[in-house]
Amino acid sequence: MIGSGAREHALVLSLLADPAVSEVVCAPGNAGISQVVATQPVDVNDAAAVAALATGFDLVVIGPEAPLVAGAVDACRAAGILAFGPTAAAARLEGSKDFAKEVMRSAGIPTADARTVTDAAELPNDLDACGPPYVVKDDGLAAGKGVVVTDDRTQALLHGEACLAKGGAVLIEEYLDGPEASVFCISDGTTVVPLLPAQDFKRVGEGDTGPNTGGMGAYSPLTWADPDLAQWTVDHVAQPAVDEMAARGIPYTGVLYVGLALTRTGPRVVEFNARFGDPETQAVLALLETPLAGLLVAAARGELADHPPLEWRDGAAVTVVLAAAGYPQSPRTGDVIHGADAPGVLHAGTALRDGEVVSSGGRVLNVVATGATLEQAREAAYATLRGIRLDGGHYRRDIAATLPDQQETSR
Ligand code: AMP
Ligand code: GLY
Repeated sequence: MIGSGAREHALVLSLLADPAVSEVVCAPGNAGISQVVATQPVDVNDAAAVAALATGFDLVVIGPEAPLVAGAVDACRAAGILAFGPTAAAARLEGSKDFAKEVMRSAGIPTADARTVTDAAELPNDLDACGPPYVVKDDGLAAGKGVVVTDDRTQALLHGEACLAKGGAVLIEEYLDGPEASVFCISDGTTVVPLLPAQDFKRVGEGDTGPNTGGMGAYSPLTWADPDLAQWTVDHVAQPAVDEMAARGIPYTGVLYVGLALTRTGPRVVEFNARFGDPETQAVLALLETPLAGLLVAAARGELADHPPLEWRDGAAVTVVLAAAGYPQSPRTGDVIHGADAPGVLHAGTALRDGEVVSSGGRVLNVVATGATLEQAREAAYATLRGIRLDGGHYRRDIAATLPDQQETSR
């Protein structure tokens, strides 16, 4: 397992729970992961180093986007190692938003209209053509900081200029109004299998206020959405995208993260990612009964068509993120965490210092809980959180509390 977040902690635990799995090693991991499996240091962006570390293993699972875009899967395959994830060429669906738009357009996938801008002098005209709310996106990977959604034209312009100053392109997109859903679609290049849809809470503050973050919490299933949403996503988004990539000679294997806005006129794609979502995966995996390693191996081998239908636990799962003081602008690290060994706690930005668990990143840990109902899962997650101490730590108290109104969406 390559990566070091709570997503990877959840993936490690699910892989270990698969009776077919005898051993898991995680690189680089974190303080929590190192308590359940062996961890190894690695520069995740060094594809050759990832492949060298993976020698002798039956499967490598790549967690984050950066190593995918850097070619970790290509390097593993070249070394004869089975790897779950897209090649660098296929991971461009996340690595370039312009490429993703172009694929969506060719495949007839419903998404926000967008203009790609490479010259800062064109920004004002393109912003005015779209009008507020402005959606301005860095074309390339930006570690969750690439997108600004704002009514403030000056802020939109400044963000566009800042992105262009680094080189590359920005996209100015039509604003999509409606609740968001994340649907993870497992692909072997031909066949697509969806996981349960989940919802993420992206803004740092309660009531969806403040800046966007990597995600402050999530839950699954979406009791308010059309029960057909996962299959709709396969039929109208994931399968057409996978078919389009195959036709271009760039087969897409791994997980295609489909971020949707459920608008009044139907779902439309907000984003593609080439990996599992974080923190949604922590909630989704808590409900997956089917052994995970078998599913990922089937995808990596091109054998998804022969894989039995996925089985899910009844009930719901909620995950809440505990973030460091100052997150997301300037997270403070090095604070001691108490209670991080409670059941249901997944580590993200944690490290060991003199035998104590300390914060080492913005999103410090996640609590995951399941329950017969969403409300029960929520209460269990917050009960665990109340037992954890982190100086300056903060979390949203409204994860999975306010759900979208069923009538607001057509699906
Ligand atoms: P992205 O990195 O493309 O997922 O964008 C991050 C977040 O910005 C999304 O999850 C949405 O909340 C918001 N966002 C992105 N694109 C749009 C859009 N076209 N309309 C409205 N909100 C958007
Ligand atoms: N939770 C949003 C993401 O993983 O991109």
